[in-house]
Amino acid sequence: MRRRLAKLPRPAIAPSLLASDFARLAEEIARVEEAGADLLHVDVMDGHFVPNLTIGPVVVESIRAVTDLLVDVHLMIAEPARYLQAFAEAGADNITFHAEVVAEPQALADRIHELGCSAGITINPDGPQDRLRLAVPHVEMVLLMTIYAGFGGQEFMPEVLPTIRKVREWLKPNQRLEVDGGISPETIGEAAKAGADVFVAGTAVFGAPDRDYARAIADLRSAADAGARPAGPRDEA
Ligand code: DX5
Ligand code: ZN
Repeated sequence: MRRRLAKLPRPAIAPSLLASDFARLAEEIARVEEAGADLLHVDVMDGHFVPNLTIGPVVVESIRAVTDLLVDVHLMIAEPARYLQAFAEAGADNITFHAEVVAEPQALADRIHELGCSAGITINPDGPQDRLRLAVPHVEMVLLMTIYAGFGGQEFMPEVLPTIRKVREWLKPNQRLEVDGGISPETIGEAAKAGADVFVAGTAVFGAPDRDYARAIADLRSAADAGARPAGPRDEA
């Protein structure tokens, strides 16, 4: 059974497996699941759209076999259409593609739906916002990159905050707005305040001191809650 984005809590915390120890992936997944992760973010890179290379459908299949969490696949690849079926069959629940490399995003989103998955569309900080906007009615999630896609451990780009505010206005209440890159207890509040409600975190979770993932996820969640909460008299003082 497909796990649905709409059922995720707000905020939802998505540990990015890119920062995990791939030599003990099943243990890392069990640990973040136990620690309160709401979904798992899987970064797929092809050495073309981005310079880095990561994982493909065979690894997603192994991930699917060891978790019931929603598997959120972020395709940073030049030809997403070629691989949709493989990722869907491997057990992805949500598949997100980059608008930069897809001239007709609606067709790709429709194909993702036919394969039984929810669809996300994403752009880099300088990506084509017009194309993104046209695709919004056809997807369940928009992902705004708060770094340039390609590597974990980069710094959050606050210049994306106005885009987060703008895109939130384009979305219906049941559509999700995810952010990815440099999310930490220091940056998540601003992103939540701007309207994001799904938060990818690689380094902030898997790089936690003493591998205390529960603490890391709880810290992210409370900082996101504090950011999303309307400012009260106390906050303004
Ligand atoms: C980078 C990936 C991110 C990455 C985030 O292109 O899309 O998901 O894992 O890593 P952190 O949270 O370390 O910035
Ligand atoms: Zn990602």
